[in-house]
Amino acid sequence: MAASFGWLFLSFLLCLFISVSTQHTSAQPNALVFPVTKDVSTSIAQYVTQIKQRTPLVLVKLTVDLSGSWPWVDCGKNYVSSTYKLPPCDSPQCSLLYTISCGGDRCSGNPENTITSNKTVGDLSQDVISVQSTNGFNPGKMVATPKFTFLCGSKTLVEGLPRGVTGMAALGRSDMSFPSQFASFFISIPRKFAICLSSSTSAKGAIFFGSSPYHFLPNIDVSKTLTYTPLIANPVGTAPGEPSFEYFIGVNSIRIGGKSVHLNRTLLSINKQGFGGTKISTVNPYTVMETSIYKAVRKAFIHTLGRGIQKVTPIPPFSTCFASKDIVFSRMGPNVPTIELVLQNEKEVWSIAGANSMVQARNDVICLGFVDAGLNPNASLVGFVTGSSHPRTSITIGSHQLENNLLQFDLTMSRLGFSNSLLSKRTTCGNFNFTSNV
Ligand SMILES: *[C@@H]1O[C@H](CO)[C@@H](O)[C@H](O)[C@H]1NC(C)=O
Ligand SMILES: *[C@@H]1O[C@H](CO)[C@@H](O)[C@H](O)[C@H]1NC(C)=O
Ligand SMILES: *[C@@H]1O[C@H](CO)[C@@H](O)[C@H](O)[C@H]1NC(C)=O
Ligand SMILES: *[C@@H]1O[C@H](CO)[C@@H](O)[C@H](O)[C@H]1NC(C)=O
Repeated sequence: MAASFGWLFLSFLLCLFISVSTQHTSAQPNALVFPVTKDVSTSIAQYVTQIKQRTPLVLVKLTVDLSGSWPWVDCGKNYVSSTYKLPPCDSPQCSLLYTISCGGDRCSGNPENTITSNKTVGDLSQDVISVQSTNGFNPGKMVATPKFTFLCGSKTLVEGLPRGVTGMAALGRSDMSFPSQFASFFISIPRKFAICLSSSTSAKGAIFFGSSPYHFLPNIDVSKTLTYTPLIANPVGTAPGEPSFEYFIGVNSIRIGGKSVHLNRTLLSINKQGFGGTKISTVNPYTVMETSIYKAVRKAFIHTLGRGIQKVTPIPPFSTCFASKDIVFSRMGPNVPTIELVLQNEKEVWSIAGANSMVQARNDVICLGFVDAGLNPNASLVGFVTGSSHPRTSITIGSHQLENNLLQFDLTMSRLGFSNSLLSKRTTCGNFNFTSNV
């Protein structure tokens, strides 16, 4: 009797479980899509996305930070919400903070503005956010997550972001970044995301969380054309005791005009102190290279470009500039030698053609859009200490070099899929169809 009652109870639980879980999965999106606007109103280009947050929902604009570990939002006097919560000190979220301080049952962390390198102390917080699902062709229904975790920034922390932007969207390899939180809220979303930054301030780029396809007009599925290379973790971050949340890849050599550039290979790998290697950044506007690497690339580039191209007085932060009249333009941008980053093997080649390698610094001047870490005095522009010829990271690939390239970060498989320039596939990152189909 007792046994059959137990069986009945078990099957009742099983039915309940099945009905709850199917209900759950039917509301599950396979992917999310966020629009990204290129904003040039501050001294460097920033890529701004938006979410809806709070109750009632309000639009919140955030600067995209590929390397950020914690999302943060200004929680000043304009923050009004009936669903705002403070997770207590013994919560799992609080234990994920490396520098925890707890007082009066408030858990605090250090939100950072990675554009200005300003840090502050702010409450660990949770609130509702609402984001757009997608089938990879168009945006679909809005889906809500009741407990999105973030840190509270402040009015001063927002300084240096474009007007109206009140925080940063962290995409780094931490447990609290956007890709990790979305993967934990939605069982159907893997820990995978893709960014596609537009070069235009009027056509929106996109960030996808979850599974492909990634369709760009006219009907090109970019997910089908990716080359993969391993993502490398740097075990040493800049804050004491913390790992790095940044994305590194293994550049083995650099080729210009098909020829290998002679480099100090020690600089290309990450050492025990966390120095060296190649990372990808959306807060550095241009690729920054350790000074010996920059000089070798510059020499090979000028040599391959050939005579008859007039060098002109450089326009900072660049130190290699030419007369625009001497450069011919093609579909791939200025017609200059392609710079190839050769990754783990000869098949994994990240090709940087003119549209990504050159910057029109003035009407009559076009510059190699790479920055010499040794020469540049402008810390905010290059993202590290003034005048240091030995930057922490030897090559930081900046956002100008990422534009119109789709990059897929697969955190589960620890690999990067990259498309190379979409211009060669006759589309751009500004070509996702943001007209909703619902
Ligand atoms: C740093 O860059 C900003 C923006 O380009 C510029 O206004 C400023 O003068 C630069 N500072 C130095 C010391 O070069
Ligand atoms: C950094 O924050 C301080 C206040 O904490 C502020 O005075 C300063 O202007 C900020 N710097 C930048 C570059 O925003
Ligand atoms: C290569 O770089 C490493 C790391 O900065 C340095 O210790 C070494 O002296 C360099 N080698 C040469 C030949 O310059
Ligand atoms: C964009 O998507 C909408 C909704 O599906 C569709 O009506 C429209 O034709 C699409 N635009 C283009 C240019 O294909």
